[in-house]
Amino acid sequence: MGFNMFSMVSFTVLVVCSPITFGQTAPPTSSPTPAPAPAPVYVNLTDLLTVAGPFSIFLSYLEKTGVIDTFQNQANNTEEGITIFVPKNSAFSSQKNPSLANLTSDQLKQLCLFHALPHYYSLADFKNLSLVSPVGTFAGNTLYALNFTDDSGTVKINSGWTKTEVSSSVHSTDPVAVYQVNKVLLPEAIFGTDIPPTAAPAPAPDAPAADSPAAPSDKGTTPSGKPSNSSFKSASWDVMTQLILAISGLIMLFL
Ligand SMILES: *[C@@H]1O[C@H](CO)[C@@H](O)[C@H](O)[C@H]1NC(C)=O
Ligand SMILES: *[C@@H]1O[C@H](CO)[C@@H](O)[C@H](O)[C@H]1NC(C)=O
Ligand SMILES: *[C@@H]1O[C@H](CO)[C@@H](O)[C@H](O)[C@H]1NC(C)=O
Ligand SMILES: *[C@@H]1O[C@H](CO)[C@@H](O)[C@H](O)[C@H]1NC(C)=O
Ligand SMILES: *[C@@H]1O[C@H](CO)[C@@H](O)[C@H](O)[C@H]1NC(C)=O
Ligand SMILES: *[C@@H]1O[C@H](CO)[C@@H](O)[C@H](O)[C@H]1NC(C)=O
Repeated sequence: MGFNMFSMVSFTVLVVCSPITFGQTAPPTSSPTPAPAPAPVYVNLTDLLTVAGPFSIFLSYLEKTGVIDTFQNQANNTEEGITIFVPKNSAFSSQKNPSLANLTSDQLKQLCLFHALPHYYSLADFKNLSLVSPVGTFAGNTLYALNFTDDSGTVKINSGWTKTEVSSSVHSTDPVAVYQVNKVLLPEAIFGTDIPPTAAPAPAPDAPAADSPAAPSDKGTTPSGKPSNSSFKSASWDVMTQLILAISGLIMLFL
């Protein structure tokens, strides 16, 4: 009985003290900051567009047309990289005139390709790009080109049909830049050069909020899960387990 009690006390002391001991001795021996992991080069665009957003409509167009592979291949190309303008889901639902419904699959593919530049550009690079606009896209040059202007830090985009701006930076680490835009970019090569003068400035009267750059309702409903909290939970579970063991040890001791 005495031996049992002794081992229980030692066990309790061990259990109670071990996390504290580790907590005190660990920081001085190991480097205080976690390993400064080199920036990961490989970005899985499907994953990125699934977690950020909501961009599920654009992503489904990219997958339907196979353009996701073209973009991923370019994203893997660390020499050039890629810059993608990603319309929010609300941009597609408010895109009525002209409609995207009747586009052929080739046109849809060109429309997707029109949303990317075959080079990585940070937001700061657009001041420079505005001087060389129009800039060719993945879909081609001239009729598939985009004009950029830098409006005191805000990047404005003009395709003729579409006048919009970068409303937030989703990801911008060389070689991959993904910028959110509030409108679908429409190329003249698909929709013609006969742009109705009212196309851009007159949004549908029932959807004035859709153009607001903030669009907080849209951002609030990110479908992303909470992966980071599972580790938090298991860490606290371990502590709980040790506490319970320690307490039961103490109870045994006083029986
Ligand atoms: C990228 O992520 C998607 C979705 O998680 C996955 O299906 C795909 O296999 C990944 N691609 C690569 C090359 O890892
Ligand atoms: C991109 O690189 C990843 C990781 O190296 C690879 O698994 C994937 O197949 C590549 N995808 C394309 C389209 O090149
Ligand atoms: C699209 O197709 C539908 C039916 O196929 C037709 O009624 C409509 O006029 C077409 N719209 C355009 C813009 O061509
Ligand atoms: C734009 O950037 C490129 C590369 O950084 C540089 O060589 C070029 O001189 C810049 N052009 C202007 C007009 O600043
Ligand atoms: C883009 O810029 C070029 C050169 O400044 C200009 O000729 C063209 O009209 C612009 N396109 C649009 C859609 O504003
Ligand atoms: C994790 O949980 C904590 C509190 O339990 C919460 O404050 C935090 O926002 C959560 N993080 C995520 C990513 O869900």
